[in-house]
Amino acid sequence: MRRLLRIGIIGAGHIGGTLAREFAAAGHQVAIAGSGGHPRTLERLAGTLGERVRPVDVAEAARFGPVALLAIPFGRYAELPTAEFTGRIVIDATNYLPERDGHRTDLDTGRTTSSELVQAHLPGARLVKAFNTMRWDHLRDFGHEAGAVERYGIPLAGDDDHAKWTVADLIEQLGYHPVDAGDLAGGGRRLQSGGPVFLADLTAGELQAALGAPVPSFRSGHPYP
Ligand SMILES: NC(=O)c1ccc[n+]([C@@H]2O[C@H](COP(=O)([O-])OP(=O)(O)OC[C@H]3O[C@@H](n4cnc5c(N)ncnc54)[C@H](OP(=O)(O)O)[C@@H]3O)[C@@H](O)[C@H]2O)c1
Repeated sequence: MRRLLRIGIIGAGHIGGTLAREFAAAGHQVAIAGSGGHPRTLERLAGTLGERVRPVDVAEAARFGPVALLAIPFGRYAELPTAEFTGRIVIDATNYLPERDGHRTDLDTGRTTSSELVQAHLPGARLVKAFNTMRWDHLRDFGHEAGAVERYGIPLAGDDDHAKWTVADLIEQLGYHPVDAGDLAGGGRRLQSGGPVFLADLTAGELQAALGAPVPSFRSGHPYP
């Protein structure tokens, strides 16, 4: 039976709004926050998404439930409060895009990855990188019920097995095959902009081939407790 969750979404734009709608349609309660600069736009958006979605501020979205999702421009991550995310599963859907976020030498040289930086900023969170590789309008339109002839895959990466399993379940509920890309450092790197699966719209099998490593597949029974 589906476990219904409270999910806080930080970022109410293309990807945050899309996932708010999709999670609410799957039965979850959603709280969504923007930067705080456009409260009426946020209220209007939440008003169009149904009674399971309500507009809140960032701290409230972070505290809302066991799962929070980051859908803000990566360059703004340091503005996120830290204590509110402690103990929560945090899905990082952000991407480092230098033309939008400004250049960072540590990322441009590959010394670290964007999700490792977000994890370091939120040390109490259990970070899972997911929902960052597919365009928002494809994410909105490409989900299929289980049993469909062809289903797209969504890769995820992280260091906490329980958190990854929870996120994999959410991916499944939205009509996609979750594909384990590995840990946050190595797996997350392969999910980044410029990597082999970024904006690629692939089936689970194609994703695994593109990721190029023998990672466990959720399709053949999940590897997590
Ligand atoms: N667009 C896609 O297809 C897509 C797909 C996958 C991943 N992503 C990634 O997802 C992230 C969001 O992309 P998007 O296209 O959805 O952007 P977007 O449409 O510009 O929306 C960004 C949202 O983030 C909010 N925001 C900005 N700074 C914030 C802060 N400090 N605290 C709270 N909220 C803040 C903005 O609020 P205000 O409006 O109030 O300023 C806005 O609601 C990016 O990192 C992007 O790379 C995007």
